[in-house]
Amino acid sequence: MKKIKEKLAEQLEKELEIDVSVNDIEIPEPEHGDFAYPAMKAASQRGENPRELAEEVAEALEETEYVNRVEVAGPGYLNFFIDRTFFAEELEKIVESDRMSIKQREGKMCIDFSAPNLAKPMHIGHMRNNCIGDSLQRIMRFVGYDVTAENYIGDWGTKHGQVIYAFKKWGSMEEFKENPMDHMYELYVKLHDEADEDDKQKARDWSRKIEEGDEEAVELWEMFREATIKYNEKEYERMGIEFDRTTGESVVAEKAKDKVKEGLERGIFKKDGDGSIFIDFEDEKFPNTVVQRDDGSTLYLSRDIANLEKRKEEGFDHNLYVVANEQDLHFQQLFEICEEFGIEGIQSEHVSYGMVHLRDGSMSSSKGNIITLKELIDKSVEKASKIEGRDIDNAEEVGLGAIRYANLSVSRNKDIEFDWENVMDFEGDSGPYLQYSNVRAKSILDETDKEGKIVGELNDQEYIMVKKLAEFSEKVENAADQREPAKIANYLSELSEEFNSFYHSCQVIGVDEKTEKRRLKIVEMFVDVTDQGLELLGIEPLEEM
Ligand code: ARG
Repeated sequence: MKKIKEKLAEQLEKELEIDVSVNDIEIPEPEHGDFAYPAMKAASQRGENPRELAEEVAEALEETEYVNRVEVAGPGYLNFFIDRTFFAEELEKIVESDRMSIKQREGKMCIDFSAPNLAKPMHIGHMRNNCIGDSLQRIMRFVGYDVTAENYIGDWGTKHGQVIYAFKKWGSMEEFKENPMDHMYELYVKLHDEADEDDKQKARDWSRKIEEGDEEAVELWEMFREATIKYNEKEYERMGIEFDRTTGESVVAEKAKDKVKEGLERGIFKKDGDGSIFIDFEDEKFPNTVVQRDDGSTLYLSRDIANLEKRKEEGFDHNLYVVANEQDLHFQQLFEICEEFGIEGIQSEHVSYGMVHLRDGSMSSSKGNIITLKELIDKSVEKASKIEGRDIDNAEEVGLGAIRYANLSVSRNKDIEFDWENVMDFEGDSGPYLQYSNVRAKSILDETDKEGKIVGELNDQEYIMVKKLAEFSEKVENAADQREPAKIANYLSELSEEFNSFYHSCQVIGVDEKTEKRRLKIVEMFVDVTDQGLELLGIEPLEEM
């Protein structure tokens, strides 16, 4: 726990008369103490024998009220045993404080996530994106950033001419009205399967018409755009995801043209023989890339350049892109180009993540080659409703929680092998397990009207719980700083496991008065920490299960 570490560091500094920071304080194996400090470096700086120095300091620090015992070990380690009651009371203050006493960060932060493309349903890859992006927005708000969650949809470019063309050729307004997403996607697939060169040319003509503002083209494009957004809204709502704004590539298409022009004038970009414009990175740092086609249309990359500058103009200090690692190169190029443009004062980062693989045959899709987000959620909810021996009326929350946890508990740079057995495992490392442990603790509190209080001596099992609970704030800070919700997910899993051993070995209700109060307090703190932690992952804490 940071506060105790700070106190210790302060005192060590006073005793040793050298700089000691919280980072110098280590966490040893539990049997060696709660905190440790290697005095070897200090001794060499002072030209003294490390063990003797450690002995001296140990004696002085043993007088401190919150230190129970100090042991000297090895070549000059100081091992501190903190007063357990003191530790628990400190934890209580933190748990009851605003935002768990986390030092609040400052600054305006844009988090760009989800960002699906037009006319296609979100799929399993978007699921991981949505889970990471949404958890990050929750975490970043919690640690104090002024967050804007932005859904920057892929609504511009040649693809959209394709949908219009296919719609004109094969589509039906009736079918569209009835089931817009299915119809759009059908057309998209049909075009892919059947289009010849002539079709492709005609589709490109429609894209050009959108860019030129042709009335019919724009009208249809807007219709598809709105239908996509509306369809996705339901899925976000189901997942409990809120955006502060929905934008899109179309918003910055004009600005992108200006940036390309500017880049050409400033010699950042070059014109190719065929009239297209590209960038040739210095020292071949990255492969050459086209930023504007020969017909004058912009590309994904050029729109992102314009968009990054737009965000800078809007006053964002931080700019996070939650996008799969397939686009690592894209973002390296983007950031490099923006640096060449001299766009400064905004810190941009690619929050990259790995692929999700489904175990073979674990799911088939009605949509041909993609498994849609909706199919995945439906399947999870159905499985949650059938878990044996349980009567579950919150299958929706459990199913969604299971998916969220499965997507968040693996560090984001790693791929995920999605396996239903583990995803739904009530006993193991899963969303349902976290929700269940949290509910189990609440049910203990429901058994009594008494309030918990830290009184008397904590036994080993209680103290382990207290120490584990005390890690929460730091885990949240790490998750925020590393843009890594897995830090919280894995911590909650360990904490829940610890709680379940506590629950088995420590009776709470009906023991002597002091012990009961103390254990109730520990259970209360467990509920507070897990309620908060689950909320940060976007997993709903339940009242019953
Ligand atoms: N629409 C893009 C895709 O589906 C993702 C956009 C991510 N955001 C961005 N600013 N590039 O691949």
